[in-house]
Amino acid sequence: MSTKTIKSKAATSKKAAATKTKAQSKAKVAGKLTSKQLMEMEEKYGAHNYHPLPVVLSKGKGIYVWDVEGKKYFDFLSSYSAVNQGHCHPKIVKALKDQADKLCLTSRAFYSEALCEYEKFMHNYFGYDKVLPMNTGAEGVETALKLARRWGTVKKGIPNDKVKIICCGGNFHGRTVTIITMSDDPSSYAQYGPLTPGFIRIPYNDTKALEKALNEHGKEVCAFIAEPIQGEAGVFVPADGYLKKCYELCKKHNVLLIADEVQTGIARTGKMLCSQHDGIRPDIVVLGKALGGGVLPVSACLADNHIMLNIKPGEHGSTFGGFPLAAKVAMAALTVVKDEKLTQNADKMGKIFRAEIKKIKSPFIVEVRGRGLLNAIVTKPMGKKTAWDICLKLRDNGLLAKPTHDHIIRFAPPLCIKEAEIKKAVAIIKKTFEEMSK
Ligand SMILES: Cc1ncc(COP(=O)(O)O)c(C=O)c1O
Repeated sequence: MSTKTIKSKAATSKKAAATKTKAQSKAKVAGKLTSKQLMEMEEKYGAHNYHPLPVVLSKGKGIYVWDVEGKKYFDFLSSYSAVNQGHCHPKIVKALKDQADKLCLTSRAFYSEALCEYEKFMHNYFGYDKVLPMNTGAEGVETALKLARRWGTVKKGIPNDKVKIICCGGNFHGRTVTIITMSDDPSSYAQYGPLTPGFIRIPYNDTKALEKALNEHGKEVCAFIAEPIQGEAGVFVPADGYLKKCYELCKKHNVLLIADEVQTGIARTGKMLCSQHDGIRPDIVVLGKALGGGVLPVSACLADNHIMLNIKPGEHGSTFGGFPLAAKVAMAALTVVKDEKLTQNADKMGKIFRAEIKKIKSPFIVEVRGRGLLNAIVTKPMGKKTAWDICLKLRDNGLLAKPTHDHIIRFAPPLCIKEAEIKKAVAIIKKTFEEMSK
């Protein structure tokens, strides 16, 4: 709406203008600001804990997003795989709206109809005895660590102050103080000390290292936690059978295997859970991101009774965990995945994507890797041009992707993408690499 229209409306209806809330009028003004102005606003009033690509989005539908100036882009990040079902999926948005009109929040002080339904739904969907609902991925991981520590003390009999968890180099499990303790990336943990004791870090994709750690510390270890593919590390895919071998080693030492499927779960890699590629059933699965259908933060831990029931009432939780809106949204999000065969589509489209990308000849490209629709191009800097510059050029050409670790670009579109759209996106990527070489 133009300034003129706003002014004339306000003049003709003073009464209406008076009842307008401050927030509404602010939103109208914000709607007219340019990308540049909005970015300046964020710079001034927002904490500087992110470094976004300079593009300001205001609308999304399916695999596309639009900036405030109306330019359309392929979304090849999908909010770090939280939008697997596509932006504003009508069935998920409807579930949200219907429940919003009925009952939004109860806390866990009372039962809610929606949560009871959701818990049974999750049991039927994933085949674990129980679900423990939380909100963010990090909360899901924290919950898994607590479940494992509790199981370690209660069931395995490890003294409380001796319990250990084995984690992997290059991991990304979130941002809480305990979780960053597991990280070997200084930008995650530096100057946040003192950190949490009780972790042993071994190299990822190294079963010998796991065997050694278990041989040395197995009696005090309650769990081994790993991402089936390390997303933030740059879509690092371990050797075939890695997780299976880890699982066998864990069983030998009576240690739980926690699969952090926050990014890899919910069909992203061409299986409902990425650990299914190795044919294993982890003891604890952590889900997040796409569980909320790109609409709400919804996370969960899945486990069987012998693990889950060691935490008793009042010993863990969250005011919002499993709230009615989240419960309904998650059921809709998972139903869409099955109804629209997104797992199969991710597998098929991923193969096409990698095959097409591998045809691009560019001095910038070192490697193309991934599984399903979680893929990455590993680049090398050319002169002063880095992966960040490539992402800026991709943006100019109509595709949004984000570098991870300076030289790797992750490509993870919504799983509803079709073959013709993959081909168009690949054409943009090809053109971009060609332009970069000039
Ligand atoms: C594997 C993994 N675990 C946990 C998290 C943390 O999730 P959240 O950002 O929702 O806390 C992420 C986020 O990227 C992730 O990739």
